[in-house]
Amino acid sequence: MKEIIEKLTEEINQLELSKTVDAENFRLKYLSKKGLISVLFDDFKNLDTDQKKVSGKPLNDLKNYAQNVWELLKAGSVQSSGDEKIDLTLPGVELPVGSRHPLSIVKNEIIEIFNRLGFTISEGPEIEDDWHVFSALNFPPDHPARDMQDTFFVSKNPDIVLRTHTSSVQVRVMENQKPPIRTISPGRVYRNEAISARAHCFFHQIEGLYIDHGVSFADLKQTLLYFAREMFGENTEIRLRPSYFPFTEPSAEMDISCNLCGGKGCAFCKHTGWVEILGCGMVDPNVLEYCGINSKEFTGFAFGMGIERITNLKFQVKDLRMFSENDVRFLDQFKSAL
Ligand code: DAH
Repeated sequence: MKEIIEKLTEEINQLELSKTVDAENFRLKYLSKKGLISVLFDDFKNLDTDQKKVSGKPLNDLKNYAQNVWELLKAGSVQSSGDEKIDLTLPGVELPVGSRHPLSIVKNEIIEIFNRLGFTISEGPEIEDDWHVFSALNFPPDHPARDMQDTFFVSKNPDIVLRTHTSSVQVRVMENQKPPIRTISPGRVYRNEAISARAHCFFHQIEGLYIDHGVSFADLKQTLLYFAREMFGENTEIRLRPSYFPFTEPSAEMDISCNLCGGKGCAFCKHTGWVEILGCGMVDPNVLEYCGINSKEFTGFAFGMGIERITNLKFQVKDLRMFSENDVRFLDQFKSAL
């Protein structure tokens, strides 16, 4: 009897480890009325007293052990892999999903709006030469933007810089394409600024350029009004203030009616009802000529805006540094804006 008990204990132990048995089959084989353990109990009754003493406890232990294994099998802790039942209706384990960066969301929206007006996308290098960043854009040699304080120069060569604006791409486009030209150029730009909540040494811009026969300031205004209303809502108003850029004449800065207070005046717009969003103007004839376009035949407009600025207006991000810190708690908030 003792050997049989040991053999069955070992057998059940193997089954528990290999997890290849179904709870009901297990019960039928070992614990039911005609099961192996029940039969042992029947045999036990016929043993003499000495043998009963030897086998009594091991037999009870075996029964308890088998009962425990059966409970485990029923609870699913020991699973049968042969005949596995998977409940496909149970919810799965959710994997963490990333989200698009807020600057990309806004950049893509701006691109889509100008695509609808027939603007293509052009790109240029971030490491540029003086000609494309300054000279061809009519910056005089002593212009402060060329100053060490504003511009990052590469490898001590004053001719090679990290571009300070995406206007450099309009030069490349005009040098390489014939009008009509209608293009926007999104990209990263660099300036030698101390990093704070309101300034950073790199940020992003979108440049726009439209050159054709008879392009006028009215075309510029209408294009930017369309953009402002698509971006900030149909009730948005625009206002153009005279300004100065070396590469446009006349030049202007554009404000939109504050999208937070609807133009009534609030802390965000410093109670003026207006917020500045971009610079623009008619491409200076000098610039057209520098880039090989006949300024007697063609006119054009250009504009440039900061993507961080537009993003702040849309999402009220208070600190510029958040855009480049990669803090998931910040980035996660833009999941629904996709
Ligand atoms: N490049 C200017 C800047 O970085 C922005 C700008 C202003 C671009 C006027 C233009 C423009 O194309 O016409 O501040």
